[in-house]
Amino acid sequence: MKKVEIKTEITVFDSFDELLKEDKSLMNEAIKAKQNAYAPYSKFSVGAALLLEDGTIIKGNNQENAAYPSGMCAERVAIWNASSQFPDKKVVKLAISASSSSHIVKEPVAPCGACRQTLSEYEMKQKEPIAIFFMGEEGKVIKASSVLDLLPIAFDKSFL
Ligand code: THU
Repeated sequence: MKKVEIKTEITVFDSFDELLKEDKSLMNEAIKAKQNAYAPYSKFSVGAALLLEDGTIIKGNNQENAAYPSGMCAERVAIWNASSQFPDKKVVKLAISASSSSHIVKEPVAPCGACRQTLSEYEMKQKEPIAIFFMGEEGKVIKASSVLDLLPIAFDKSFL
């Protein structure tokens, strides 16, 4: 028996202002995408914007449903939107922003486990990392350079 330490790395920016210009502009697209979130139940709106290798930006937002589990997260709406339209274009970056109508979201909102799993499928398919930037409504921004930094020991097709 042995214990194995697993290390991942993230970058923490003190604020949006610390981001590079191109990352700010992708995050601004995520913030805009958030406006069309359909979140009447949770009142928690999430916007996601993906940058494809040719500069195309694809957006998504959370879409809720009265039958709660039938709703979908912003990140999966965005990545499926990208893959369904441009299956052969690589995804370079993903920016995520979240806010609530009941409180100010001050901490970076990380993608949920199911979104991490979904994103990892496309990262492995394209054999190049997808950088993920996430924030709340204000405050810090976190960057992970790869989906696998947020999902160590991932399940993938090699097990099938
Ligand atoms: N949500 C996302 O859009 N992305 C996540 O990674 C976490 C949660 C949405 C789903 C639901 O509409 C609302 O946030 C509250 O969970």
